Amino acid sequence: MQPEPVVYAEHLSKRFGSFTAVDDLSLSVQQGEIFGFLGANGAGKTTAIRMFCGLLTPTSGIARVAGFDVHTEARKIKQTIGYMSQKFSLYEDLTVAQNIEFYGGIYGLSRAEIIDKTNRMLEELKLEERRHTLTRSLPLGWKQRLALSVAMLHDPSIVFLDEPTGGVDPISRRNFWRIIYDIAANGKTVFVTTHYMDEAEYCGRLSIMYQGRIIELGKPGELKEKYGLKSMQEIFVHLVGETEPADKPNIISSTENG
Ligand SMILES: Nc1ncnc2c1ncn2[C@@H]1O[C@H](COP(=O)(O)OP(=O)(O)O)[C@@H](O)[C@H]1O
Ligand SMILES: [Mg+2]
Repeated sequence: MQPEPVVYAEHLSKRFGSFTAVDDLSLSVQQGEIFGFLGANGAGKTTAIRMFCGLLTPTSGIARVAGFDVHTEARKIKQTIGYMSQKFSLYEDLTVAQNIEFYGGIYGLSRAEIIDKTNRMLEELKLEERRHTLTRSLPLGWKQRLALSVAMLHDPSIVFLDEPTGGVDPISRRNFWRIIYDIAANGKTVFVTTHYMDEAEYCGRLSIMYQGRIIELGKPGELKEKYGLKSMQEIFVHLVGETEPADKPNIISSTENG
């Protein structure tokens, strides 16, 4: 028997007025998986993730995270998960150490735990010398690594990362994914969104999102075999009929021939 999925959705939809941002989404993610959402801007990735995090109420459908219902147990979900929002979530005008202390307080850690976690985190991230640096002045790749560590401060079993590597160079992205692998290797579940094709390849399983719907779901290797194609990029182009979504704000309405 399969253990209960840690993220589960059945016919989940979100409408804003007459516009459907997430359309009849069903999926199931097991503990320890690295599960990805690949899609262009506007595909509905953030809206879906915010429903899973208990931050946005679905219009219809069912969703459970860590066994908790997003409709009625959003508070418990928020205590159980880590969330790194798409928009940079740390305070730019606090120092590195102050950010860690601030979030430690929010997550209800004791004073001693906060001191201990802060020291360990700064050592792990090799940020000891930047302890008193304003977060604003860190390079973006470092900020994102710090934001990920902060999202894991309370040792959540599931972490939701919404385009965590947006705007970062390929080498920093690769380093960031090494950390994602470490997190999953410790038995934690990682739910990540991206519009980068190379990152789609790193996911254990992923779903391709288009106009609010999941149009394909599977392991990268299985999908390549199914379509007889060599990369996720080719599969995306094949399914969506467009070029790479990266850096195209409005791929869905853009046309090739002008
Ligand atoms: N609060 C809102 N009100 C109206 N439309 C929204 C709202 N939030 C998101 N949308 C729309 O829903 C669609 C999906 O957005 P989003 O989930 O942010 O996509 P993604 O994260 O894949 O870029 C977009 O067209 C966006 O404009
Ligand atoms: Mg988004």
